[in-house]
Amino acid sequence: MSDSSSSYVSAPYAHASSAPSVLKAQSLCKSVTSGERSLTILHELSLDVAAGESVAILGKSGSGKSTLLGLLAGLDTPTDGELTLFGKQLSRLDEDGRAALRAGRVGFVFQNFQLLPSLSALENVLLPLEISPRVGESQTAQEWLARVGLGERTSHLPKQLSGGEQQRVAIARAFVTDPELVFADEPTGNLDPDTGAQVIDLLFSLNQEAGTTLILVTHDHALARRCNRCLRLENGRLTPFTPESLGEDA
Ligand SMILES: Nc1ncnc2c1ncn2[C@@H]1O[C@H](COP(=O)(O)OP(=O)(O)OP(=O)(O)O)[C@@H](O)[C@H]1O
Ligand SMILES: [Mg+2]
Repeated sequence: MSDSSSSYVSAPYAHASSAPSVLKAQSLCKSVTSGERSLTILHELSLDVAAGESVAILGKSGSGKSTLLGLLAGLDTPTDGELTLFGKQLSRLDEDGRAALRAGRVGFVFQNFQLLPSLSALENVLLPLEISPRVGESQTAQEWLARVGLGERTSHLPKQLSGGEQQRVAIARAFVTDPELVFADEPTGNLDPDTGAQVIDLLFSLNQEAGTTLILVTHDHALARRCNRCLRLENGRLTPFTPESLGEDA
């Protein structure tokens, strides 16, 4: 790994430094071919996240935040570098193996929600439980929809819900299995300030009560300030900064 001092970001918090690592990225590179040109999105990026940490990732539009989140969750594969999730090297697992590792342990809130259009809100929230079944599924899913303020919208299809309501269904779906680790790509991006504040409170109460590790992509400074660590993605790498130094374009 070159220039490791600037690209490797370790946990500065007392609670985190003693906690086991849930996620480790080493010299992660991601390039894609766009037309005849190769575009480098991530360049030798490294990150170590300890159990129970909350990490905010900020950066300009197009800086690669969604690409990074997909890689960290094992939904996409890097061009180079190594990722370790729950102590397992992802490069040693095929797609099914990565899915099995994630099942019930990782929740993901996509930037565009990715709700299944033909399923109701309740059925969408039930989906992860079908992969990782447990007793009282329907009630658990109902409870989650109620927690995000959608207890009365369970039978609605995604197209019958507003953007903010779909976002909250996506959040309920990410948390329904009581995951150890949740990735959320701009989880308050479509919410008004009051609803956004409620969702932020919910995320951090889970972080504190259940010890859920949170890795959040956000432009929302209020959300970033609540996290243990803020990192900025720029030129394919992460650099730490304090919330006070957040710029308007972060
Ligand atoms: N498969 C692909 N082929 C070509 N270019 C891609 C591909 N995937 C991502 N990109 C490009 O990589 C860059 C990073 O995209 P990404 O979606 O990760 O950005 P982002 O930081 O999440 O942006 P935003 O804040 O707007 O959501 C963009 O310029 C995008 O066009
Ligand atoms: Mg994005």
